[in-house]
Amino acid sequence: MSRIAVFGAGYVGLVTGACFAELGHDVGVRDVLPDRIDALRRGELPIFEPGLEELLAKNEARLRFTLDVREALDGAEFVFICVDTPPLYSGDADLSRVWTVIDELPAKTRATVVMKSTVPVGTGDKVRAALDARGLAAVSYVSNPEFTAEGTAVRDFLHPDRIVIGAFDEADSDSVEALHTGIVAPVVRADVNSAEMIKLAANAFLVTRISFINEIANVCELVGADVARVAEGIGLDHRLGPHFLRAGLGWGGSCFPKDSMALKQLAANSGYHFQLLNAVIEVNELQKRRVIQKLQKHVGKLRGKTVALLGLAFKPNTDDMREAPSLVLASRLLAEGVEVRAWDPVAEPELQGVTLCKTPLEAVRGADAAVIVTEWPQLKELALEEVRAAMRFPLLIDGRNLLDPAAARAAGFAYEGIGRAVSPLDVLPETAERDPEQETA
Ligand SMILES: NC(=O)c1ccc[n+]([C@@H]2O[C@H](COP(=O)([O-])OP(=O)(O)OC[C@H]3O[C@@H](n4cnc5c(N)ncnc54)[C@H](O)[C@@H]3O)[C@@H](O)[C@H]2O)c1
Repeated sequence: MSRIAVFGAGYVGLVTGACFAELGHDVGVRDVLPDRIDALRRGELPIFEPGLEELLAKNEARLRFTLDVREALDGAEFVFICVDTPPLYSGDADLSRVWTVIDELPAKTRATVVMKSTVPVGTGDKVRAALDARGLAAVSYVSNPEFTAEGTAVRDFLHPDRIVIGAFDEADSDSVEALHTGIVAPVVRADVNSAEMIKLAANAFLVTRISFINEIANVCELVGADVARVAEGIGLDHRLGPHFLRAGLGWGGSCFPKDSMALKQLAANSGYHFQLLNAVIEVNELQKRRVIQKLQKHVGKLRGKTVALLGLAFKPNTDDMREAPSLVLASRLLAEGVEVRAWDPVAEPELQGVTLCKTPLEAVRGADAAVIVTEWPQLKELALEEVRAAMRFPLLIDGRNLLDPAAARAAGFAYEGIGRAVSPLDVLPETAERDPEQETA
């Protein structure tokens, strides 16, 4: 069994630490946020991730949490870098936290630094050069990108589709692969640049599929087809597969937007205009705004109306609000003069001007429209008649195609999903007042 130091106690660092402890390793997790470390020492999880609290508790004896670099590194043979790499104003990844960790390694460190943070291609070369410049020749470097998804991260880590290991030296690949003993998955060994590119390309491909099906959905709306059936028919083709073909109001989260932007900028910085990826990103920006048009189509002028946003987190089973489509929707609605009420079972963001509600029913009370923004399972169980009775106007925009359109219509709603054939019953003539300003805008 090995000793591992994990830098960063966020979504990736905590899952990495807990899962390596589960595999029998001894793990020291270091963060720079005192509140976070204090909470972890008390056995409290500072983020929401299903199954993680239990896994940390189960492996308590093999886990330490600290603010101190040397305490985390004590005897560590591996140093996992799991710090955040948010976008800079330019769209490039901000590597300042990664560099801080490299700078913090004490002289005479002997360990393998393993990069789990998502970084631009070429970062490994730069880190290797920096380590050499500091005389840290006994520090090896390995790229081991992370593919876990929030909400299913523990399962994804312990049962991954593949483990990617990019190294300068075969022996380092061997040692990092050995750390994963107990996990059954194909291992892809590559040079460091290619491992870094695998992560960025995988995320770019996933968002390409989502933006593709969203555009198909938009065309479906114009020609009277149902994207849910179309996606089913596409996905059964073994060459295509069913994943990431769910139309909706756009992708968000802590990874997809920043990683696609980082790859776009990486290409641009290298002299290449990544046309497809640019379009994929733009399609997503427009997709989030289409909800506003759908609302206007039904209720006309938005000023003075009340809209309930059901779900705020960027996807279900997480409290992560980074780049959540709800943020764009809320701010567009507020700019239109709408009163915005919102509900989410776990995310509790401070959104200026938005009233947070404890239940979906409270959020929809007196509303002129409700929008399903995040496909929380609770929303599938909504008592539709009760919701309808609570609302001023029964307009339901299902931004995730979560509900059965027939059931929603039977409950008296004007229902509109994304890319689903719109019923003529769905336009409420008595509420669809025209707004002359809107017509010329
Ligand atoms: N969130 C995901 O599901 C996911 C999946 C795959 C890859 N990634 C990538 O993994 C990286 C981490 O993402 P995250 O979502 O866990 O970020 P996060 O913001 O949740 O956590 C990062 C943590 O690192 C800490 N930190 C910053 N500087 C530090 C330092 N010098 N020493 C120790 N800790 C430090 C921060 O305080 C924070 O707690 C990013 O590059 C991200 O793109 C994330």
